[in-house]
Amino acid sequence: MPGGLAQLADLVDSKNGFVSARIFADQQLYERELETVFGDSWLFVAHESEVPHPGDFVTRYMGEDPVIVCRGRDDQVRVLLNVCRHRGRKLCLEDAGNIRTFQCAYHGWTYNEAGELTGVPFFDAYQGKLDKASLGLHQAARVETCFGLIFATWSDCAPPLSGYIGEELAWMMRILFDRTAHVEVAGPPMRWTVDANWKLGAANFSGDGHHLPTTHGYGAALGLDASRGHRIGYVLHTDEGHCSQMRYCPPGTIDTPPYLGLPEALWPEVDARLSPEQLDVMNSHLSYSGNIFPNLSFLCVATVGFLNTEWQPETADRPVVSFLTIRQWQPRGPDGMEVWSWQLLDRDVPESWKEASRVCYERAFGMAGLHEQDDVENWAAITEAVRSPRARQLRLNYQMCMEATPAPDWRGPASAYASPSFSEINERAFYDAWLRRMASPTIPLPQAGEAR
Ligand code: FES
Ligand code: FE
Repeated sequence: MPGGLAQLADLVDSKNGFVSARIFADQQLYERELETVFGDSWLFVAHESEVPHPGDFVTRYMGEDPVIVCRGRDDQVRVLLNVCRHRGRKLCLEDAGNIRTFQCAYHGWTYNEAGELTGVPFFDAYQGKLDKASLGLHQAARVETCFGLIFATWSDCAPPLSGYIGEELAWMMRILFDRTAHVEVAGPPMRWTVDANWKLGAANFSGDGHHLPTTHGYGAALGLDASRGHRIGYVLHTDEGHCSQMRYCPPGTIDTPPYLGLPEALWPEVDARLSPEQLDVMNSHLSYSGNIFPNLSFLCVATVGFLNTEWQPETADRPVVSFLTIRQWQPRGPDGMEVWSWQLLDRDVPESWKEASRVCYERAFGMAGLHEQDDVENWAAITEAVRSPRARQLRLNYQMCMEATPAPDWRGPASAYASPSFSEINERAFYDAWLRRMASPTIPLPQAGEAR
């Protein structure tokens, strides 16, 4: 059949390790994603450090819905649909600022920072028929925060954010986002567009480790990466489709630095905030990546000396540095996305460390970063290829480690799987969660032949 919806259950077969190529190419599936995956989930909208003061706002997207994230005079953060209630003009065109009112550029309707309609030019001409109280900006149903990350949902039925994130992922996230009292954004996000389906970025960060030796093989080819892209560690995922992977390099190649390469002055604070088990994990892995379903990925990498050669000369005892980034894969049709990428920093590290971390982040995962360009080239090439009528009928392969058993030595909550080489356990979990959202019973499937 031409569309993908009638055969929804056939799109992801995680028990046998297959995913239909159609999910990266089909406009009808994409339209349903916007309603189910992005309409029902908790979505990241901003970091608290981006809106610290009353009146602070940033403009963002929830799926394709433009929103204003604004801290009100009452200190409450609201997420307002950035669309004027008069004729539907986009209301706020700025990326960020501090404001008391938002005035629409078309006819001048004015809203306060809580989204209430406060001013209407020529109000008398409505002859008492205009109900301003009912014409405030549409708002997200709920807004909650987890380790400084602000999430919002349009759904009245979503579980609390803490339940959505879950104990297992929260345990992991604390190591990255709550290790010191002030993990903050380094500045506004970098943004760029990629001709690739958004799920390819999310699934890659969820669990694709075995692209490292091939896709990012330049490090080994230039003699800069003694591990040659090989990694050891754990992967974990939750029922909601959140995923994380923690890795270190084979013995004798690249050492794992303590405390993710953070300056020693911060170690006592980290000791006080994390549990012994979390400290054990932090000190035995040098890279962390993952994805909070559906589209917020994170990455922290330590020991990135060769990306940072000006700052730290080649000496036997040179200090290490690390970088932490969150990146959001914003859908723009089945064959496009905007990438929004933030660097996060611990406020109290020295300026020289911040600068070294920034250099590493930008060289690896900024919009012109080496690893970034390596990755998106693959995702764009997939998206282009599966447009073909023959290719979109393919079932793509995700069969690595189908026999996985939980790792008995994992020290965190719930199950993690040992990853002596690599696996596709997390990618299957991501696509499984995607399918469950797509099949949401609260949003009816269109009937055959029905246009959406
Ligand atoms: Fe906004 Fe008319 S569209 S005031
Ligand atoms: Fe990569």
